[in-house]
Amino acid sequence: MGSGLHTQDFQLTPPLPYWEDARANQKEYAQALDDCDPLKSFRDQFIIPSKKDLKRKLLAVPEGEDTSSSSDSPSIYLCGNSLGVQPKNVRKYLDKYLRSWAIKGVTGHFVGHDDELLPPYLHVDSAGAEALAPLVGASPKEVALMGTLTGNLHLLLTSFYRPTAERYKIIIEGKAFPSDHYAVESQIQLHNLDPSQALVLIEPEDPERPTLSTEQILRVIDENAADTALVLLSGIQYYTGQYFDIKTITAHAHSKGILVGWDCAHAVGNVVLQLHDWDVDFAAWCHYKYVNSGPGAMAGLFVHERHGKVEKGSFRPRLAGWWGHDKSTRFNMDNKFVPQEGAAGFQLSNPSVIDLTVVTASLELFKQATMPALRKKSVELTGYLEYLLTKTPLDPSDPDSNSKPFTIITPSNPEERGAQLSIRLRMGLLDKVLEVLEENGVVVDERKPDVIRVAPAPLYNTFTDVWEFHRIFLQACRDAIAAAR
Ligand SMILES: Cc1ncc(COP(=O)(O)O)c(C=O)c1O
Repeated sequence: MGSGLHTQDFQLTPPLPYWEDARANQKEYAQALDDCDPLKSFRDQFIIPSKKDLKRKLLAVPEGEDTSSSSDSPSIYLCGNSLGVQPKNVRKYLDKYLRSWAIKGVTGHFVGHDDELLPPYLHVDSAGAEALAPLVGASPKEVALMGTLTGNLHLLLTSFYRPTAERYKIIIEGKAFPSDHYAVESQIQLHNLDPSQALVLIEPEDPERPTLSTEQILRVIDENAADTALVLLSGIQYYTGQYFDIKTITAHAHSKGILVGWDCAHAVGNVVLQLHDWDVDFAAWCHYKYVNSGPGAMAGLFVHERHGKVEKGSFRPRLAGWWGHDKSTRFNMDNKFVPQEGAAGFQLSNPSVIDLTVVTASLELFKQATMPALRKKSVELTGYLEYLLTKTPLDPSDPDSNSKPFTIITPSNPEERGAQLSIRLRMGLLDKVLEVLEENGVVVDERKPDVIRVAPAPLYNTFTDVWEFHRIFLQACRDAIAAAR
């Protein structure tokens, strides 16, 4: 465990003394940690797929089946970095939405109900922004719930990447998520520029350690300072789980006259973001990972207030649509585009209310739990996972040997990571390890040829989940080594 405080985060507890306890690798110990967890009640607000559910061939539950039986135990779901599980309150929110549509039809755009959870359809976007803003450290005017992550990246790049003869480069990670890479590359090409000249990739210096140090990122910015227009990085790197120092990197790029955008897909709902205070120019993210809003859920974007201003008809150029138009004159239909102030002015279409309803339902749980409390638990959960994986001997009959067929490529300093640990296996072991994990009802995700990503989500995962995972994973490693002989 690192001992310093995160400059851009809440104050972390220094090394947790109970990890020095010799009993820390016992299941009872993990259960005791769960008993003292102040957020433990939140797990009940989610539907965790059971081991039996994962094997079902039918969605329908056969008549007479007892779903409460102990054989139907929950899976060990550690995949919130990919797709979060379903919050129970989504059904409640959707029922209200379906009912309002059924009984009001088009008048549901304007007419509210005394027992509504969301306002009439005309105003759901504002309600969504209100619910979303605290999650990323923004004012409601600086965020919009809309579209999809890649679509929003394109919208934002179209507005923020305005290359000139002097400044035309975009700096991204060499191992950026493919969609981000494609979006940036295609934006460069749309300006008739050549990505081989205009795209700067930051590659890891050490192939054994695929992370990027802040110093390296700042150095690449310095080396390209004169002709770079934009830096686009991920808040948390999808592959390594590294949490970049958003505040320092943004300030440094700004000092060189460069705009900075962040893909916060793996950071939102995971770490405490302060996008406004860190002076970020723009950001985009999705809500299907740690924000538990379902596959392909409606996404979010942030535009710093200084970029969202509308003064005397003057505003930042963008791709426009009627839903971004000034609300008070939207229905005048005069075809003179004047955007709303803020991120809402980047909206294009009237929002899918069903999609927005799901995200807002999920955000209710974040409001109750609060991000600082979730992050505190997350640091402890992931630290416990790291402790168990690194300190438990692979061979119980040889407790002094600490040789392992894997390394953790995620930084070990909790200030430089979120919930996820990326585990790189010795080459050739992945398939067998995944097979054993699946047989035992463990859900994680893989990045071929050798990495699995494991992410305990503090809203619904427990210390016992983490303990069970380490037990099954070490067994899977032993089985994979035996099978490879
Ligand atoms: C970091 C990152 N960027 C972009 C994407 C693409 O997202 P979407 O398909 O929602 O546009 C993902 C998807 O997982 C991602 O993890």
